[in-house]
Amino acid sequence: MSHNVADSSSNDLPPMPETLIDTSSAHFDDFIAAAVRLITNTTSLVDLQQQRVMLTGKKSTLTQWSKQLGGLDSEAKKTYGAKLHEVRSRLQQAFTDQQANLERLALDAKLDAERIDITLPARGNRKGRLHPITMTTQRMQQFFVQAGFNVATGPEVEHDYYNFEALNIPSHHPARAMHDTFYFDAHYLLRTHTSPVQIRTMKDSEPPIRIICPGRVYRCDSDQTHSPMFHQLEGLMVTKSSTFAELKGLISEFLEAFFAKSLTVRFRPSFFPFTEPSAEVDILADNGKWLEVMGCGMVHPQVLKNCGIDPNDYTGFAFGMGIERFAMLYYGIDDLRLFFQNDVRFLKQFS
Ligand code: PHE
Repeated sequence: MSHNVADSSSNDLPPMPETLIDTSSAHFDDFIAAAVRLITNTTSLVDLQQQRVMLTGKKSTLTQWSKQLGGLDSEAKKTYGAKLHEVRSRLQQAFTDQQANLERLALDAKLDAERIDITLPARGNRKGRLHPITMTTQRMQQFFVQAGFNVATGPEVEHDYYNFEALNIPSHHPARAMHDTFYFDAHYLLRTHTSPVQIRTMKDSEPPIRIICPGRVYRCDSDQTHSPMFHQLEGLMVTKSSTFAELKGLISEFLEAFFAKSLTVRFRPSFFPFTEPSAEVDILADNGKWLEVMGCGMVHPQVLKNCGIDPNDYTGFAFGMGIERFAMLYYGIDDLRLFFQNDVRFLKQFS
């Protein structure tokens, strides 16, 4: 708010005689009172400066009066000189006080505006959480690690020798078509299953072997129950005495531990080029339907041979399962694509 100097002077200051000699004591006191009121009514330092100019500047009544002092006789000069001095010092005091006042108000306002409100509730510590696929993988691993299995890994970009050839799936084999493979060139591809890790492990280590391998696999396939990238968990055990009975026992134990309830489990004869005999594992759902949950079988003697293991001395079994499928069954999710959309509304429901 800016004050018009002429306006405030005509409104607020008492009309003052032009000539000093006409000015009685009472006039001076009225002038001082009115001027001090003007000063204490200012609301900003800019305002205050304007009043300073108006009340004590070159064009002010006070200055006009001071100029007239020279023309007075010595007696009058003394009286009015003292009076004018009093006026000046009273106004000066009022200016100083008001300046301090306004500065303190400004500081208070600033402090108030910048105050940290320690009573505000904290922003909260929002923790992230593990993806349901990660949690499912860990649940699966926990069982097998306790059963004495080590966790192995292998590359996702794989050579067709490990992904197919060594697993008894030659280039013309119809099983290759089932895999809908993403190829980089004639030999390199994205692994279509975790079974190549069986080959790498058997080639790299001596029996007895007990490994599981969780990891990403890729197939050119996408709908409500298929994603071009998904996860499998592979298992392999090779010893001098591994049997199908042992495989059945292990898998049944695993399924009941994973789903945390007793289950009806069925081993249904099936075919995989790298296991013989082979089976699909089904569990009986509440609605009376059989649900296929994994493939398994005894490692084919030719596969053992491919890896430098004598099938006359050693036997092994292997199994492979889709991790998304287990997560869907465990959490009751009906669309696999939800796992990969990264929608927090979905993801934050798992803990
Ligand atoms: N690799 C098979 C698949 O992807 C699963 C499997 C693993 C079957 C090990 C038997 C033994 O379907």
